[in-house]
Amino acid sequence: MRNTVLKLTPLSANTGVEIAGVDLANPLSPEAAQEIRDALNTWGAVFFRDQDITPDQQVAFARHFGTVEKRTHPSSMSPVEGTPEVSIIHREPTDGRNTGGFWHTDQCFLPDPPLGSVLYAKSLPTRGGDTMFCHMGAACAELSEGMRAMLRGLKAVHVRLNYHGIGGKPQWGVTPDELEFFTMKYAGQVATHPVIGRHPESGQEILYVNPIYTDRFEGWTREESQPLIQYLCERATRPENYCRFDWKPGSLAMWDNRAVLHYALDDYAGESRTMHRCVVLGPWLQPAA
Ligand code: OGA
Ligand code: MN
Repeated sequence: MRNTVLKLTPLSANTGVEIAGVDLANPLSPEAAQEIRDALNTWGAVFFRDQDITPDQQVAFARHFGTVEKRTHPSSMSPVEGTPEVSIIHREPTDGRNTGGFWHTDQCFLPDPPLGSVLYAKSLPTRGGDTMFCHMGAACAELSEGMRAMLRGLKAVHVRLNYHGIGGKPQWGVTPDELEFFTMKYAGQVATHPVIGRHPESGQEILYVNPIYTDRFEGWTREESQPLIQYLCERATRPENYCRFDWKPGSLAMWDNRAVLHYALDDYAGESRTMHRCVVLGPWLQPAA
């Protein structure tokens, strides 16, 4: 198949578009690459079906959007043999929590989170295992002008340890000993980002909070901050605002980690799931004001 005419089918009002008419095993023409980039800027996530690609071809696709390098964050991911930029996300029926089973953005607890990620389905459960995406530009636009004006003046502190325990209390089946270990390991993984940032390509204002890692507003206590953070996240992730991608063999997704939250559904008990993932580094959100 040649990369000529792309057909775009949105999955929901604001988030996610399926793109047909492209074979990612071949180099993209500059026109096709630009169309995909424009679609990503508009919809926050782009999806392709029936692709048959190697890890190197996945990296070649990702390079159209920024720099691709090895950056494996959860320790549950191991690199693909021969292509260290691509990690394997594998889940066995006996594994505990699945990677990304809550609304989040990737690595918000670092000063330089990746611009986006590319995920390719290798082996899927017979049912379940979808991923949801929610556009935080749309979520920002529907807030009142008064709320946006206040949020533009705020920064938020994102804490990796919150994935394991909050305020020194273990969460989600983590044991106190494990929490002690993670507390040492992730002590430095705390970053502050503006609550509203401007997308470097679309120019859109983006609400950059998520319900687990976003711990508090800078200069506020966690107790003061959480009601507003949770309100913003609940309002943003209403069903009207997200799309749900049903993986099939050969499906590939790329999301803009600056613009969308994502959520990997944990609804395939007793089965396993394997994905290939690489992350793209590049310009981050800019100050809103
Ligand atoms: C990720 C992630 C979602 C999924 O790769 O960052 O959250 O559906 N994965 O596997
Ligand atoms: Mn993720």
